[in-house]
Amino acid sequence: MVGAGKEGRKDETAELARRRGFIWQAFEIYGGAAGFYDYGPLGALLKRRVEGKWRDFYRREGFYEIETTTIAPRDIFESSGHLESFTDPTVMCKSCKSVSRVDENVNVDVKCPECGGELEASGELNLMFQTRIGVTKGEGDEQAAKKSEGYLRPETAQGIFINFQRLLKFNRDKLPLGIIQIGKAYRNEISPRQSLIRLREFTLAEVELFVDPAEKNNHPRFEEVKDRKLRIVPSDGEAEEKSVEEAVSRGIIANEYLGYHIARVDEFLESIGLPRAKLHFRQHRQDEMAHYATDCWDAEFLSDRYGWMEIVGVADRGDYDLSAHASSLNVDMRVHTESGKVVPHVIEPSFGIDRIIYALLESAFYEEQVGKEKRKVLQFKSEIAPIQAAVFPLLNRDELKSKAREVFQKLRDASFFVEYDNSGSIGKRYRRQDEIGTPYCITIDYETLEDDTVTVRKRDTMKQVRVPIAEIKEVLV
Ligand code: GLY
Repeated sequence: MVGAGKEGRKDETAELARRRGFIWQAFEIYGGAAGFYDYGPLGALLKRRVEGKWRDFYRREGFYEIETTTIAPRDIFESSGHLESFTDPTVMCKSCKSVSRVDENVNVDVKCPECGGELEASGELNLMFQTRIGVTKGEGDEQAAKKSEGYLRPETAQGIFINFQRLLKFNRDKLPLGIIQIGKAYRNEISPRQSLIRLREFTLAEVELFVDPAEKNNHPRFEEVKDRKLRIVPSDGEAEEKSVEEAVSRGIIANEYLGYHIARVDEFLESIGLPRAKLHFRQHRQDEMAHYATDCWDAEFLSDRYGWMEIVGVADRGDYDLSAHASSLNVDMRVHTESGKVVPHVIEPSFGIDRIIYALLESAFYEEQVGKEKRKVLQFKSEIAPIQAAVFPLLNRDELKSKAREVFQKLRDASFFVEYDNSGSIGKRYRRQDEIGTPYCITIDYETLEDDTVTVRKRDTMKQVRVPIAEIKEVLV
């Protein structure tokens, strides 16, 4: 069933997402702006559910969530290396002067993507958005201007690193220490032509795990993941399937902590419904690694529209960040451990939530012919579906409507996300719900009035079962 008519999905997914209130371009009525998208009611619900699952997942690892600011003074990014190194190479068109980011398709050897003119190298551009914090006094005073310079964070991670000493104290000076954060990050991408895939304002869900470097090959729960098979693409080799244990013991994945977290990322992505056949982990080449990383593996999703795209990065940042802040501030970030006084290393799984939402929408969508009609479906897992169930009266009669409203309200009161719909034929109502991924439709009919049972129709099989009202909740969870 899945796969029927998938050719049409490329434009259908985006069209459906827009039409049914998931995601659309921001500032639409002003003509839009590249790299900015808004989430509508269903998109926001879907995103919150994915974030909720993510929080639960990492809480089970014993990690704590914090929330830090999205704007920070210049000093932070001077120390972190972002001012100097968070840049992209660019080319400029000699005719229309448009600037593009250099990538596998754009360089000085090809024509301008805007007008077909000749391109020339135009240097590196920093991707951070700059702002002013407060009012700058003294026009032309370079020192004062620098002091008031602020930046929108390009990653949430720095907010965690600069609070490390407080967080360590909170953890009673013990390693490992796992901190998570979900929030907006900002990158002034040079040419964001890929809609939701390259955003200028986006949501990151990041884990910063501080570990004793001497313990990196001794993860206490490695046993739990060691047999998990992963599709990996090492930077110097072909794609292969390997167990986590084999990848670590052969030195393909550098250490147990990194291997453990790559496996957990894989598990999380599967748990929200991304098909494993469309996922692999690709190791960064030396020349594409971020300035802070010693090793990095991207979880990539195979998109019908964009090809392989990064959705999560799992980096070993070594002691780069803590050492960088320690040396700028001349403070000691070392921690007492059994192996002596050490600067902790950081393992960082960093999730691009918007890209994950895109991947979910694209992979969940299919169309199939049912009789004379095309049925469009978003096959979300029930745990992340924005609407968990829809409640319908079979006919537009008062006695059925009032019973349906009663069932609807009961489910709402029990914190389910439910919709009520009494307009159009029952078939049309089913189609509307299939299209937004609602896994169950509950219909109230005359039998309900007699014996308090309803029909529950499942989205994927379209089969109906009779369920007592008192047991609906068990079916939905
Ligand atoms: N913190 C990961 C990143 O900046 O991509």
